Amino acid sequence: MQNPIPKITGSTLKRLKALPYSSAPNPAFIIDTDLLEENAQILQSIKKRTGAKILLAQKAFSCFSTYPILKKYLDGTSSSGYNEAYLANEYFSKENHVYATAYTKKEIKDLAIFADTLIFNSIQQLAMGIEITKGLSAPDLGLRINPEFSTSSVQLYDTCSPNSRLGVIRLDLDNQLKNYPLGFLGSLSGLHFHTLFEENSDALEATAHAFENNFKDIIQQCKWLNFGGGHHITKPDYDIDRLCKTIDYFQNKYSVQVYLEPGEAVALNTGVLNTKVLDVINSYSGLHAILNISATCHMPDILEMPYRPNILNAGLPKEKKYTYQLGGLSCLAGDVIGKYSFDTPIKVDDSLQFIDMSQYTMVKTTTFNGIPLPAICLHSESKGLKTIRTFDYSDYRNRLS
Ligand SMILES: Cc1ncc(COP(=O)(O)O)c(C=O)c1O
Repeated sequence: MQNPIPKITGSTLKRLKALPYSSAPNPAFIIDTDLLEENAQILQSIKKRTGAKILLAQKAFSCFSTYPILKKYLDGTSSSGYNEAYLANEYFSKENHVYATAYTKKEIKDLAIFADTLIFNSIQQLAMGIEITKGLSAPDLGLRINPEFSTSSVQLYDTCSPNSRLGVIRLDLDNQLKNYPLGFLGSLSGLHFHTLFEENSDALEATAHAFENNFKDIIQQCKWLNFGGGHHITKPDYDIDRLCKTIDYFQNKYSVQVYLEPGEAVALNTGVLNTKVLDVINSYSGLHAILNISATCHMPDILEMPYRPNILNAGLPKEKKYTYQLGGLSCLAGDVIGKYSFDTPIKVDDSLQFIDMSQYTMVKTTTFNGIPLPAICLHSESKGLKTIRTFDYSDYRNRLS
């Protein structure tokens, strides 16, 4: 079942509709950097109100040509491991925080040269980090914990499910600490949790209190707390006051620095995937349109979550006069984006624009079936449309051998 996502409305929609699609490459991801900057300004307002620090979670959005804009407002980046941390070091060069589900020894050694914070997923990994970074003044070392408090309704994203491998639960922590010398956690600077997924601040508030109940004694020794991502801060109905209250509570009570590391909220509703119709098939099962993109190669969350992206000027099936099933180019039978309706019949060479395509798209693309990667463009009112990256056969070939 596909979850429909709320439609973009108002001035954002108007601005996305006005982008110069006919002169843009196709297929192409087009990021509107004015909208991106407005999101960053909303995040900055939380920093100003609370003193919290906000990092870009690069796993969601690593379009580094936009980092000069984001750097003006955010404190740095959070990375999911080695390569993202290097990208941040090269292009963002502010606070560089890394959490990896597991590191090799070499990765810890290399990252220790420039990372500000290394966060570990288990006690053994933390012990390895302590050993390797002994005598160094940086990086700070942190531990990801699991507060055992699920708020996500999407199982794929529930990091607190009973079999979760992400973060240490309190019972395991206490049992495993018996294998280490007393005072082992003295090397720890902070705790991290990431449990939310596209949620409002009531979910953070409830999670943060479960976290406090389970880990109060360790929080008291911490310099910082990282509340992860999943905060849908730039959505119009997000309760920013409640977020600020939760941050203030922890910072005032425990004298800690609170960090947030949103990914989606940074890039939400700022990008479009410009696509084209390559074929229209009139089948006994209805009308099918084959596009020059693929759900599995370019928008895999449509299939993984699953969800139904919005298309400019299109409606739900049968809402408008002509309904089509839109399919991708790959051989995968399920490479289907969904059924959409239009006011007029769609024809070969028509272009269609999928909206809200900045986050978790470019970072997840593949060249399965040798399908070409969409170009990447930036647009702003002052600079117009700029194509910053195109891809060709060599990008496909160079990932293989
Ligand atoms: C550890 C961690 N931090 C931050 C994020 C960013 O989450 P979001 O893009 O939902 O804000 C994720 C997403 O999976 C994550 O795993």
